Amino acid sequence: VILVVALNPALDITHRVDRVDWAGVNRPRAVHISPGGKGLNVARVLHALGTDVLLIGLAGGEVGQGVRAALSAGGVPARFTDTTAETRRTFAVVDAGRGETAIFNEPGPVITGVEYERFLAVFTTEVSRCSAVVLSGSLPRGLPPSTYADLISMAAQAGVPALLDTSGPALTQGAAAGPAVVKPNLAELSAAIGRVLTWRGWTDEDSVGEVATAAAMLRGSASTAVVVTLGAAGLLAVTPEGCWRAVPAPVPGNPTGAGDAALAGLARGLAAGHTWADRIAHAAALGAAAAQAPVAGRFDGSDFDRALAAVGVSRWEARSCR
Ligand SMILES: Nc1ncnc2c1ncn2[C@@H]1O[C@H](COP(=O)(O)OP(=O)(O)OP(=O)(O)O)[C@@H](O)[C@H]1O
Ligand SMILES: [Mg+2]
Repeated sequence: VILVVALNPALDITHRVDRVDWAGVNRPRAVHISPGGKGLNVARVLHALGTDVLLIGLAGGEVGQGVRAALSAGGVPARFTDTTAETRRTFAVVDAGRGETAIFNEPGPVITGVEYERFLAVFTTEVSRCSAVVLSGSLPRGLPPSTYADLISMAAQAGVPALLDTSGPALTQGAAAGPAVVKPNLAELSAAIGRVLTWRGWTDEDSVGEVATAAAMLRGSASTAVVVTLGAAGLLAVTPEGCWRAVPAPVPGNPTGAGDAALAGLARGLAAGHTWADRIAHAAALGAAAAQAPVAGRFDGSDFDRALAAVGVSRWEARSCR
């Protein structure tokens, strides 16, 4: 079983409007409600791949019930710890006329010490019987930025590799704890090393080398791999076995959730003991398939097959890769 931790899930509500009237009454043409948050996307992709997955986390109130119900309707096994405070909602208003989307993210619940202790009891039980643990997404208020670092250390004590995808201090502290895999995108990596990295394409070897050097800085231990995802350009993996790159065939679409799908591919490959070349090929192809799907956490199997056949994987030689 791959264990996926979602400490700050959400209910994503999307309204589609032909043209938003910001001073009047709007009647959405379509309303879409779906449980969201990065951990949930990862769990859904793993479930769709036929991988055994268990989602654990924190959920509260009526919104939390909505998240649980939607997951169970989708067949994704989940075990949430109750919180008194209400789970957050996100609102997206899609203005079809302008071709723009406004997103409103609620701040989310404040988690109490007692609630987190209850979650930790579940984590301790479940981590001892899983093959890998995925820690993904933001932390809710009330939990310190060391939270993921602590969970990574607990997993390591149980002999279980961890994959981390978050941002800010939770990322830098978590990465320093030496997880098996850290998956930043370029913006998250830039923030973590305190320098803005610009992507100039694979042909600009100096700039690729800079990204590789930055990724190497985030390796908390000799066994940590840092996989930098680069949108349609693919990904660069700085691993204990050298650097690898995966270049997908670029596809048009909605990139939200592509990173979560890529992380699901990395988790599956790690748990199954696949080679790095295989892991990143699957990760890049899943990301591409997810980018083509209209909803985060979903993808079409034939898009995935096509993307996997098209992805190019090769070693990347840079100084920080030796
Ligand atoms: N337009 C695209 N065409 C082809 N592949 C894509 C495209 N967008 C994303 N991918 C694939 O998906 C992977 C992850 O995407 P991306 O780098 O956008 O992640 P991210 O920024 O973490 O996204 P998010 O956090 O919103 O899920 C990329 O490494 C790439 O392989
Ligand atoms: Mg991401």
